[in-house]
Amino acid sequence: MDPAKSAGIDTDSMTLTRFVLEGQKEHPDATGDLTILLNALLTAIKAVSTAVRRAGVSDLFGIAGTTNVQGETVQKLDVLSNQLFINMLSSSYNVGVMISEENEQVIVVDEKRRGKYIVAFDPLDGSSNIDCLVSIGSIFGIYRAKHDDHPTVDDALQPGNQMVAAGYALYGSATMVVLSTGGPVNGFTLDPNVGEFLLTHKDMRIKPRGKIFSINEAYSKYWDQGLHDYVKRCKYPPGDKAPYNARYIGSMVADVHRTIVYGGIFMYPAHAKSPSGKLRLLYECNPMAYLVEKAGGKATDGRQRILDICPTGLHQRSGCYLGSTEDVDDLLACLQGAK
Ligand code: AHG
Ligand code: MN
Ligand code: MN
Repeated sequence: MDPAKSAGIDTDSMTLTRFVLEGQKEHPDATGDLTILLNALLTAIKAVSTAVRRAGVSDLFGIAGTTNVQGETVQKLDVLSNQLFINMLSSSYNVGVMISEENEQVIVVDEKRRGKYIVAFDPLDGSSNIDCLVSIGSIFGIYRAKHDDHPTVDDALQPGNQMVAAGYALYGSATMVVLSTGGPVNGFTLDPNVGEFLLTHKDMRIKPRGKIFSINEAYSKYWDQGLHDYVKRCKYPPGDKAPYNARYIGSMVADVHRTIVYGGIFMYPAHAKSPSGKLRLLYECNPMAYLVEKAGGKATDGRQRILDICPTGLHQRSGCYLGSTEDVDDLLACLQGAK
């Protein structure tokens, strides 16, 4: 009798760390440094997940009483998550420079702990949804130093097409990490009993066309005509096609995860009220664009591929349209006035 079997325990489960290590072994020049960095990220994510789930009973709801560089009210969990990401990444000895939504300047790791990677992150995405228990997340993008292995501030402003890995954590009904290290997109679900992220969604692919459009229609009065035309086409499709469903959660991680899993399109446009859009290029748009493209989808700012945008500022914003290729192409045709 197999005790593990009768106890329903998998003694050979594929953890995220094991999965990444096996992937790195396929690269002869792999040093294992990225695996160490990712492990540090997972430690921060597990700690954030625990804090999110205890927020209601540990006085972690509500605001921290400050505003961030974006001029936004900072939530207590924003501050806690940011500290966890900075401390865990600094002590991984593989990061040289960090860009955080919550810090105006880049964070340069002290010389003795500095490594060759640059990490841009949104430690807690969807903060406005914390107190009403709607899913929130964390987003990260990872780059290598452009020159030697001693990254500088200049390394922080690389286009998204230079990323070596990107991912997000979703603190929803379960805690899940969705990650690509340059290859397919894979989903890992936290087993709280073991404290490990286990491979549950191998090679996630986005459908070429979905049936969901996701946008905050409260800003309709500020939209360009092409966007009006596209959303109207979703609601009143030509011929006898059924209308699209509307879904908008207000947490980018949750809206993008649904778009990858179910298909469709997520939109946060630049418009008259926010001429550069709201979502930040380095730690929201780029990592999500990277994952959507690796899953077979498309990501544009309405004019160009998001990953090709050359950043000029740490917190610059960008229009963001991403999801199923055919849906994004329909949108682009409307923005260009062709539909
Ligand atoms: P953050 O909480 O990190 O500031 O991000 C919030 C973002 C993103 O998660 C979401 O898609 C968007 O804000 C929602 O903005 P609106 O409320 O303007 O729709
Ligand atoms: Mn965010
Ligand atoms: Mn945030």
